[in-house]
Amino acid sequence: MRKRISIDQLKIGMKVEKLDRSWLATPFLRHRFTITSSEQITQLRSSGVQRLDVETDDACQDSGSCASAIPAKVEEPESPAIPFAEELPAAKQTYRAAKLVIQQAMEDVRMGRALNMEAVSDVVGNMADSILRNPDALTSLTRLKQFDEYTFFHSVNTSALALSVGKHLGYERASLLQLGTGTLLHDIGKMLIPVEILNKPGRYEANEFEIMKQHALRGAEILSNTTGLTDMFLKPALEHHERVDGTGYPHHRFKIDISQFGLIAAIVDIYDAVTSDRCYHKGKTPHDTLQFLYQLGAQGHVDGTLVQQFVQVVGVYPVGSCVSLSTGETAIVKQFNHEAPIRPLVVLVTDEAGRRLATPIDLDLAAQRRRPEQTIRSILDPTVLGINPRIYLDKEAA
Ligand SMILES: [Fe+2]
Ligand SMILES: [Fe+2]
Repeated sequence: MRKRISIDQLKIGMKVEKLDRSWLATPFLRHRFTITSSEQITQLRSSGVQRLDVETDDACQDSGSCASAIPAKVEEPESPAIPFAEELPAAKQTYRAAKLVIQQAMEDVRMGRALNMEAVSDVVGNMADSILRNPDALTSLTRLKQFDEYTFFHSVNTSALALSVGKHLGYERASLLQLGTGTLLHDIGKMLIPVEILNKPGRYEANEFEIMKQHALRGAEILSNTTGLTDMFLKPALEHHERVDGTGYPHHRFKIDISQFGLIAAIVDIYDAVTSDRCYHKGKTPHDTLQFLYQLGAQGHVDGTLVQQFVQVVGVYPVGSCVSLSTGETAIVKQFNHEAPIRPLVVLVTDEAGRRLATPIDLDLAAQRRRPEQTIRSILDPTVLGINPRIYLDKEAA
């Protein structure tokens, strides 16, 4: 049965149903979940939650406490074939190669030349293999953005993120190749849009926006006319701006008529675009962008269930997030921990008093001896603090 309790009565094993404040104000991007660790309770408390509704079973009722309740089975994360650090060098190489391949492909389209599909297939094959060996290595590189070459990095990032979502959904390699190729090329139609419009800083006039919108259809046309790729490969280009409520373009399709590739492409496209710095706006933090996507899901613009899946792929504190720890330090999230999503590996950039460290220190929040353990207390905006998370992540890859 459901009952309302105070945060002080919350115990491990209880199933949370409702909070006294918006979910968007907490790091838990889910409506319902079972408390499986004391950190989750600390996080709810520090998010300002005072009262909440929980589902209890009769046994809990009788004993008046759920302290001994067995936590509901948490979905077993599939363990990666090889560790993150081992996969990282190959992932970096592939990331760099993919950036060069898409840069060349876009230039070819701009110049009216045929696309070198062999190079595209090879590099997407390498990306898919990297994701299959360890989904986090390549995905972690998507935080390394360079704003001057936005379109190329954006293409590689959306492809890497889509592959990671695809793997999470259980796609086999053949489907991953279609999804990865399609998302890598999803904005290829932009190469047929006049440069003045493409690179215009600020908002588009209505007529300019109409021209810009053509890139989705033009992209699908280029791919079907010049590459002989089958339908599924074209879906990300054609559908990445469609929205499940029919408000997107080019065909105002509703969810039922949008492929899963299209639904995934929409989410990773928004995520990468919104987190990127452009000449006319600063990118939002990854965490804020997840909340934004979550809102879009709740409003029915994008597929809400897929947003949940996406959060499980990048983590509630995606790589590159700037966080404040319970002990006062500021840190940057460096690696997602699937077994303990709220305890990622971080790099400390300030000490407890907020003084910048000369040498940043790695700290695995899931493997500490210190008591009480250090936990993430809140998300910070790195621009306010004058911190650039990129310089604390790996620089060479970009
Ligand atoms: Fe686009
Ligand atoms: Fe895009």
